[in-house]
Amino acid sequence: MPVLDLHCKECHKAGGTGTEKSGFSVETYDSVMAGTTLGPMVVAGDPLSSNLYRMVAREVDKSIRMPHGESTLSIEERAVIKTWIAEGALNN
Ligand code: HEC
Repeated sequence: MPVLDLHCKECHKAGGTGTEKSGFSVETYDSVMAGTTLGPMVVAGDPLSSNLYRMVAREVDKSIRMPHGESTLSIEERAVIKTWIAEGALNN
């Protein structure tokens, strides 16, 4: 959550542009797990199938990478997301 707070929350909270356009909010565990209007972002236990990880690991086309703009997650921050998903995406 601290990584998402730092890099995503300014746009993905209630009333934020990212949340309004995609339905994805990082405000709570439940909202992260609920995903976007199109479906879940996290597949527990499987980071490589999780769009959340793929987007921040920059394994997707530039146009849909998150966060928008220049700032990116550090290698360490990407690893945190990957490990969290691999360990089951628990509410811990
Ligand atoms: C500067 C604002 C901003 C930041 C920061 C940001 N987003 Fe977004 N996000 C958007 C906007 C706007 C959209 C709507 C679709 C688009 O414009 O691509 C979006 C869409 C999305 C979507 C829906 C998929 C899609 O392509 O439409 C997901 C998932 C997402 N963001 C995840 C994240 C994550 C995870 C982070 C942090 C690592 C993040 N965003 C950071 C603005 C932001």
